[in-house]
Amino acid sequence: MNDVLNPEIVEDEESSLRPGDFDEYIGQTNLKENLKVFVGAAKLRDESLDHVLLYGPPGLGKTTMSMIIAHEMGTNIKITTGPSIEKTGDLVAILTALEPGDVLFIDEIHRLNKVVEEILYPAMEDFCVDVVIGKEASTRSVRIDLPPFTLVGATTRAGDLSAPLRDRFGIVSQLEYYSEDELTQIIDRTSRVYNIKMDEDAKRELARRSRGTPRIANRLFRRVRDFSQFYGDATITKERTTEALERLKVDNLGLDDVDHKYLLGIIHRFKGGPVGLEAIAASIGEEPQTLEDVNEPYLLQIGLIKRTPRGRIATAEAYRHLHISQDE
Ligand SMILES: Nc1ncnc2c1ncn2[C@@H]1O[C@H](COP(=O)(O)OP(=O)(O)OP(=O)(O)O)[C@@H](O)[C@H]1O
Ligand SMILES: [Mg+2]
Repeated sequence: MNDVLNPEIVEDEESSLRPGDFDEYIGQTNLKENLKVFVGAAKLRDESLDHVLLYGPPGLGKTTMSMIIAHEMGTNIKITTGPSIEKTGDLVAILTALEPGDVLFIDEIHRLNKVVEEILYPAMEDFCVDVVIGKEASTRSVRIDLPPFTLVGATTRAGDLSAPLRDRFGIVSQLEYYSEDELTQIIDRTSRVYNIKMDEDAKRELARRSRGTPRIANRLFRRVRDFSQFYGDATITKERTTEALERLKVDNLGLDDVDHKYLLGIIHRFKGGPVGLEAIAASIGEEPQTLEDVNEPYLLQIGLIKRTPRGRIATAEAYRHLHISQDE
């Protein structure tokens, strides 16, 4: 089955794997423990939870956490995305349809357009919106009160958020990459949801190659399961896992083809750097934005690249990983 061609199926599979409450949500301990307090305190006061901004690389659990927040608050969640709200009227319609205490989740909130964003300021601060009604000479501005609600914004690029918007979030939290232990627990849970037996060392091997990211762990799990079932294994073994991941071109650090192209690009075409993002992206035919949001954060995290004022450089660790001598 092809993931790209069957987004609905992937969404279904993902939703069955989504942890439903704080206790099922593995890792992000600091964020989770703090949110437990804020949610608990808001419930004691019978108030809506303060607005929450979650940022971090794709697939770390931002959408999942926002659903859990609504679940733990005992409210409904309305889900939308920044780029899908084109006109101020669209946002006003969403806001005025909210019930008291609802969570409004705006994914990719950094992509809201400026005029729409400005509607959010009074909505977040004073639970009201100002709308202009009437035509030409008779236009006037009317203030509409909103029920108290919680805005949860998610973004992969906190730096792209305007200061006035960022400042209106009472709770701002960065999601971290997951440790090998945490990913092992996530894979363990996934194997139980799918009712598939997997050896402990196989789970750990998969965890090691999942780039600190639950979504990748789950996706690779499904592919390893394909290999295992196709070859008639009763249990997913470490050997099968390694073989499958190698066939999928996922290396022992979890790097894929694009990561390799990127690193080899810096090393071979730019003598290891420093090189600007645009130049490296153009030379390997990838989108700078994707490289910056998806590939670079992990390569930085595991120390294969560094960012300097003059651009990216490949570290000695990168040369070692790719078995390239640094004085070539
Ligand atoms: N803490 C967790 N414990 C277990 N599974 C998790 C956890 N976080 C995420 N997942 C799994 O990873 C998948 C992806 O998570 P989610 O969609 O919440 O990521 P995201 O941060 O919103 O990504 P994006 O930035 O691409 O929207 C979920 O469907 C869920 O199965
Ligand atoms: Mg998401």
